[in-house]
Amino acid sequence: MSTEPFVVVTGGAGFIGSHTVDRLMERGARVAVVDNFSTGKRSNLARWAGHANLQILGVDIADGLFAGLADLETRWGPVERIIHLAAQTSVIHSIENPLFDVRNNYTGTVQVLEYARRKKVKKIVFASSAAVYGDVSEFPVEEDFECVPLSPYGIDKLGSEHWLRYHSKVHGLDSAPLRFFNVYGPRQDPHSPYSGVISIFSDRAHAGKELLIFGDGEQTRDFVFVGDVSRAIVAACFAEGGDGSAANIGTGTETSVNQLAALINELCGGRSTISHAATREGEILKSVADVTRAMQRFGFAAQVELVDGLRETVESLRA
Ligand code: UD1
Repeated sequence: MSTEPFVVVTGGAGFIGSHTVDRLMERGARVAVVDNFSTGKRSNLARWAGHANLQILGVDIADGLFAGLADLETRWGPVERIIHLAAQTSVIHSIENPLFDVRNNYTGTVQVLEYARRKKVKKIVFASSAAVYGDVSEFPVEEDFECVPLSPYGIDKLGSEHWLRYHSKVHGLDSAPLRFFNVYGPRQDPHSPYSGVISIFSDRAHAGKELLIFGDGEQTRDFVFVGDVSRAIVAACFAEGGDGSAANIGTGTETSVNQLAALINELCGGRSTISHAATREGEILKSVADVTRAMQRFGFAAQVELVDGLRETVESLRA
């Protein structure tokens, strides 16, 4: 049997997931994508079509990984590592429909962990979020700050982190929850009401349409490129150990929405007008990650400058 690591990526056909699969495939891993295709797309994985090291399973994590992976286990042997990214990804949607969030983002994680425990998987990496912190008053944001989430999304991500920690302490499963800050890049959907600001602005500036800034635009975020995020995920996945405590994944640099709109408009030829509307309800005024721990734990530091990441994002819209 092959000795290449067998890695399961839940949500592997999605935005962050498909970039993660790209990196794993480039490393020569054998990858099983588990995705229910509610938002993921087969086209995100098109470059690997027919490759013997990639299996795409149209399976929902809530219906159980056991049956879904059974055939593959007989061919590839036991799963070595899991990267758990499958999720309902919208904070706003979680507020409108909390039970849906619990089913996908909380119960779903417990189900994945149950598979990991029973199958003696070595390690799990989990997509957590800066949303676990709530409204913070000190910056940069450190992992040990008190977490008081302001949404079901944040609560379910934090609760999932506790489940990982429990599995590490009690069942010996290595685990690494990663708290993503504002992730952007190619393949992010710009057309949902829950879309991130960079995908919305890039899509609109590309078409010469107006960019609408909520509030005065001086609010800041830590925008991290998806190519960096996927590199962090893979580094955490193959690092030794993991006690279930979280690490921030950001750049350590903050950018205002005004700066962002101006940059994106310029990259698209400056054809859009930039205007302002009322401040969004529950707006967080400042967000920036302390990134020390990710470097200490698995040698990760973001490398892609915002302007370069934005250029790549905008160019992907031309494709
Ligand atoms: C994310 C969530 C948001 C939640 C918040 C709480 C998503 C897409 N957003 O928001 O629902 O309340 O975390 O932690 O899940 N902006 C504009 N114009 C636009 C879109 C956004 O000015 O068309 C601004 C926003 O007001 C914000 C910034 O851009 O200041 C970033 O917005 P977004 O990408 O939605 O991320 P978060 O604010 O971090």
